[in-house]
Amino acid sequence: MPLAPDAINPNAKSYTPQGFKDTVTPKAMTLEDIRQTIADFKNAAEHAKIAGFDGVEIHSSNGYLFHQFFNRSSNQRSDQYGGSIENRNRFFFEVLDAVAEVFPQQRIGARFNPSLHHSFGMIADEETIPGFDAIISRLDAEYKLAYIHLSEPFTDVSAVPFLVQEVARHYRPLYKGTIIVNSNFDQQKANDVINAGYADLVSFGKLFISNPDLPARFATGAPLEAWNQDTFYTPGEKGYTDYKALEEMPV
Ligand SMILES: Cc1cc2nc3c(=O)[nH]c(=O)nc-3n(C[C@H](O)[C@H](O)[C@H](O)COP(=O)(O)O)c2cc1C
Repeated sequence: MPLAPDAINPNAKSYTPQGFKDTVTPKAMTLEDIRQTIADFKNAAEHAKIAGFDGVEIHSSNGYLFHQFFNRSSNQRSDQYGGSIENRNRFFFEVLDAVAEVFPQQRIGARFNPSLHHSFGMIADEETIPGFDAIISRLDAEYKLAYIHLSEPFTDVSAVPFLVQEVARHYRPLYKGTIIVNSNFDQQKANDVINAGYADLVSFGKLFISNPDLPARFATGAPLEAWNQDTFYTPGEKGYTDYKALEEMPV
């Protein structure tokens, strides 16, 4: 039975080895479940360290468990983990503090998608951006993370007055450390956001799938291979590891 802040079915689709399936109603986490999950994250960090990883990213984005705690549509708890912005953010900071007992803060990143709306079960509202502002301001004031990794909106939110349309631009004044930004960037847009000073780094997903040598192609101005949307979220190597680097291509 999946765990969540509340027993609320996000009514979304979830990818499984058998393809996309309707989500189910999760079990509302008890305080013991929360305590155990914090311990599980710490344990996972310990294993990552033993395995030789340089650091870990806390994925608090894209409708996953931390995002479900942040969001009022999925968190209607009345205990210390719900009801106010501070309470809804508490679980994230407790996990971060536990992971920071394993890796130094400079080896931990955190990922956020503040303007996610009507995707992955997340429905934003007037408290959504103030909630992320509180998290990121606190990370700025009290922590020294390796980076925060922000997504620009996945969908057009220009008609949603309480959401931020340019996420990196909004958070730059609130966060002095390293900001990575992603979502639908190309080389030009990436250089623009860095030159504007809104982000320090840009990450690429889809372009990196279809161009395994993406940095070399950017550096040399080589043409880019288009990605094939039909092979996203499918099992097997096709569409993931079978795109060729330029030097592997027949001349
Ligand atoms: C095939 C595919 C699978 C993805 N799977 C996940 C996932 O499991 N979890 C997640 O948070 N994001 C996932 N993403 C989203 C990426 O993390 C990233 O935010 C997104 O691709 C936007 O960046 P891009 O426009 O450069 O691709 C996936 C993206 C693609 C293309």
